[in-house]
Amino acid sequence: MKQLLYFTAVFITVIFSVSACPPGDRAALLAFKASLHEPYLGIFKSWTGTNCCKNWYGVSCDSLTHRVADINLRGESEDPIFQKAHKTGYMTGSISPSICKLERLSSITIADWKGITGPIPSCISSLPFLRILDLIGNKLTGPIPKDIGMLQRLTVLNVADNQIYGGIPYSLTNLSSLMHLDLRNNKISGTLPRNIDHLKMLSRALLSKNKIRGPIPDSVSKIYRMVDLDLSFNQLSGTIPPSLGKMAVLATLNLDGNFISGTIPATLINSSITQLNISRNALQGTIPDVFGARSYFMVLDLSYNRLQGALPKSISSASYVGHFDVSHNHLCGQIPNASPFDHLDAASFAYNDCLCGKPLKSC
Ligand SMILES: *[C@@H]1O[C@H](CO)[C@@H](O)[C@H](O)[C@H]1NC(C)=O
Ligand SMILES: *[C@@H]1O[C@H](CO)[C@@H](O)[C@H](O)[C@H]1NC(C)=O
Ligand SMILES: *[C@@H]1O[C@H](CO)[C@@H](O)[C@H](O)[C@H]1NC(C)=O
Repeated sequence: MKQLLYFTAVFITVIFSVSACPPGDRAALLAFKASLHEPYLGIFKSWTGTNCCKNWYGVSCDSLTHRVADINLRGESEDPIFQKAHKTGYMTGSISPSICKLERLSSITIADWKGITGPIPSCISSLPFLRILDLIGNKLTGPIPKDIGMLQRLTVLNVADNQIYGGIPYSLTNLSSLMHLDLRNNKISGTLPRNIDHLKMLSRALLSKNKIRGPIPDSVSKIYRMVDLDLSFNQLSGTIPPSLGKMAVLATLNLDGNFISGTIPATLINSSITQLNISRNALQGTIPDVFGARSYFMVLDLSYNRLQGALPKSISSASYVGHFDVSHNHLCGQIPNASPFDHLDAASFAYNDCLCGKPLKSC
């Protein structure tokens, strides 16, 4: 009888411990919550009781380990809690380093709360299972953690729309699983890493609206999976590496609003790129006369540069040119009477030295 009681007790303990969250994880979550203030929705009201794996808003646990695996807190979402409040989320406070005690975390999403300040805890680099770090749309400051490169499983790093400053850490190019890098709209300075091609899995690199200076490293073109490269509104200088036009799947290349000089590489015109914006730089020379069947542009924006000469005749053999803008340059001569231009109005050609012909006045 005594034995039976003993086994029953063990059995109940086992059941209890697999269904409930470990007390250490629960304590870490409560410490994390204590440094945040969410005044309108009451999302943290659900964070009570011992089982943090059950019905704690935005928390989920691994079904095998029963450790906290995901923190998913979005300030803009379709969740009924937002519809009831008729508000988007707003939260103040900071991200407590106690989050790093949740050592089995696979994703951290703390996005669009607008008012969360303070740094990204540097101990985040010690979460070996982390795959997604999405902190977009807060007011975070401080640098990207120096040892971020330790996160060998990280596929998404999104800290866009914050006030992150400092350089891109050396270790970042060690993120060998990284597919999506979004640092847009921060205050990141310094140069692009020359060994950026170590990021073999990278397909989107969105770095616009920062203070990144120096050249675009040639090695970028060795990132074979790159689809979207957005470096617009930085302080980049030097020339455009011609190798960018030879990338196999590059579809969007935005370099607008930098200090890029030199000429437009011919390779960009005859490439896989469908959206090319190199507006507002210091590009000179002529527009390469190499348009062909491979030239398919939804966007081709070359405005606000120092381009000279005539519009290339070959443009009539482009497959498609949708949005086209060569305004604010020093172009001259007759606008080719070509089908890609049929739908364009005068604004696409305005403010040049002496362009003429339809849709501008006749020559
Ligand atoms: C990058 O990873 C390699 C190999 O894992 C390591 O030796 C090196 O110290 C790391 N570099 C940085 C800057 O973290
Ligand atoms: C290209 O960039 C310029 C300057 O940043 C911007 O004003 C323009 O809207 C962009 N063009 C297109 C078609 O998106
Ligand atoms: C465009 O590129 C293709 C493939 O890279 C090449 O075969 C072709 O000759 C190029 N055309 C022009 C006009 O440069």
